[in-house]
Amino acid sequence: MKLLIENAHIATPLGNEAVRGAAMGNICEIENAAILCIDGKIAYVGKREEMDLKAADGAEVLDVQGRVVLPGFVDSHTHAVFGGFRPDEFEWRLKGDSYMSIMERGGGIQSTVDHTHQASADELAAKTRWFTERMAQMGVTTVEMKSGYGLDHDTELRQLQVIKSLQEDADRKVDIISTYLGAHALPREWKERGTTAYIQWIINEMLPKVKGLAKYCDIFCEKNVFELDDTRLLMNAAKKMGFDLKLHADEIVTLGGAEVAAEVGAHSADHLLHVSDKGIKDMAANGVVATLLPLTAFALREPYAPARKFIEEGCAVALATDLNPGSCFSGSIPLTIALACIYMKMSVQETITALTLNGAAAVGLASSKGTIEVGKDADFAILHFDNVRALPYYVGMNCVQQTILRGRVVYSEQPLPLK
Ligand code: NIG
Ligand code: FE
Repeated sequence: MKLLIENAHIATPLGNEAVRGAAMGNICEIENAAILCIDGKIAYVGKREEMDLKAADGAEVLDVQGRVVLPGFVDSHTHAVFGGFRPDEFEWRLKGDSYMSIMERGGGIQSTVDHTHQASADELAAKTRWFTERMAQMGVTTVEMKSGYGLDHDTELRQLQVIKSLQEDADRKVDIISTYLGAHALPREWKERGTTAYIQWIINEMLPKVKGLAKYCDIFCEKNVFELDDTRLLMNAAKKMGFDLKLHADEIVTLGGAEVAAEVGAHSADHLLHVSDKGIKDMAANGVVATLLPLTAFALREPYAPARKFIEEGCAVALATDLNPGSCFSGSIPLTIALACIYMKMSVQETITALTLNGAAAVGLASSKGTIEVGKDADFAILHFDNVRALPYYVGMNCVQQTILRGRVVYSEQPLPLK
């Protein structure tokens, strides 16, 4: 299968690893470019006239008329498999309730856990597939999805099996990386035994069973949820068993999750609204990607994570949506971009790196995704515009015209006239 994209304005970071610090602003732009995709991989990128025409023989041609072609976006943090919805909590928060007080009363995550227990695999899959279609419309080609709304043995496995079945679907709209988040909340039935006993049970009973189903192990490291010692216990055990690591860290208060992420060698620490200066330095020194989730800060009316500080300290920053039924019921890539540029003071170029190569690095895929380079997967987001500056300018509105996953057009809409 061959696809030749012509008249592209390519804009891409370069390389096979996360880009750190000021270099995040370096984007390679090539106008009047051609991209040849063969069997889902990029076989040529560059000027049309320098391409070996023979190689493109028989290719389907897609003329994008000067529009921007980005690497497909990587949404490296979502909770997109769940039962029920929680609009009531959103309203309570508008009236002054806090996210944690709702959780402490037994609502929040536990409420979604109750609904997820009652949902069949087919029901969960249908809902998640709906989200993947919306993701593809916004140019997302790779998404990370977490379990964490089962907590018990069977429901956690059901969530992970749903993710696996969606990834195995040949007609899927996005590629999916899965994460086991059994340590998302202490289940009701473990309240007496406590968090450490629950983490021990996860290590002994669950990790061996989720080994083939999840690439990452994650934990909600937070005051009054799972604190630092429990986090170390789980992360070190998971690492020994061959899982890659991620952490929800310093989201609600400054606890030191970022420092632990650095200590245990996590690929990424996520949220980081209340990260300490030492946490930022430790993450930079240990190459932990800082995955920032501005939609959650926006929806919780919390301060944004200090993106500029991370970049100044030489960290790699990724951006993701955190799509979930509670703290952030949004998977909006355009709004993520707008918030990152407007409130977190990231440049358009940094935002592109954060949503492509650095997102890919946060899910361990920087050598196969995240840039437009020969040998990588042919995953692209084609914009309605011929200039990357349109990305935040088109505030919160989708500016993706077509999405291509592994050389296959998975989303296409009527193009907006260029003038
Ligand atoms: O990333 N903070 C923990 N987990 C999710 C929210 C989950 C929920 O509220 O259902 C988050 O914000
Ligand atoms: Fe999350």
